[in-house]
Amino acid sequence: MTKIFLDTAQLDEIREARDLGLLDGVTTNPSLMLRAGTADLKANTLEIVKMVAGPVSAEVISTDAVGMIEEAREVLSWAPNVYVKIPTIPEGLKAMKRISSWPDGRRINATLIFSPVQAYMAARAGASFASVFVGRIDDAGLDGMEVVRQTRTIFDNYGLDCLVLAASIRHTAHVADALLAGADIITLPFSVLNKMSGSPFTDAGLERFLADWDKAKAG
Ligand code: E4P
Repeated sequence: MTKIFLDTAQLDEIREARDLGLLDGVTTNPSLMLRAGTADLKANTLEIVKMVAGPVSAEVISTDAVGMIEEAREVLSWAPNVYVKIPTIPEGLKAMKRISSWPDGRRINATLIFSPVQAYMAARAGASFASVFVGRIDDAGLDGMEVVRQTRTIFDNYGLDCLVLAASIRHTAHVADALLAGADIITLPFSVLNKMSGSPFTDAGLERFLADWDKAKAG
């Protein structure tokens, strides 16, 4: 079953999504932290962990392997369901390889993936999630969902132990396409989650049913 993550660092959004009862995890990044108005990654992540039992991803800011490894050690110590988000660059792959060899190190979310071969490299380096940035690939005039489909096929063909995560989701059609493409996880903004939970047609239909019920009761 495809899992639904929320792509936000905002606690009120996470609380509301959690109350829906369908939230499997959370992903954050430095831009989302900025939007949430905080630079305290540890405090914010620990607040999220109080609300969400599934994976909660927190991103490193170092760009060299040594720095990433050091940050990962700290981030992974915060809670057993915290995943460390590492950019898929050569230094990131070196860091993933090392971190994934630790006893508790298979909690890596390889981020900023734009091609199936980058996803393949992340999986080979020991990442548990390969985050394909669908919307940003679309923005470049390419087909983001095709990268999800190709990554799915490659991981299946070679039995790679890494989940395909569809990220940078912009609208509900992306969600439907990611489900059809066989993504293991979809991380979505709160606005998209809200739109998935209903439809203006459902609201209009309900309003009519209730109005008709009032008339039926009135005889
Ligand atoms: C994934 O984990 C990222 O946080 C996210 O999906 C990026 O999406 P954006 O392109 O909307 O910034």
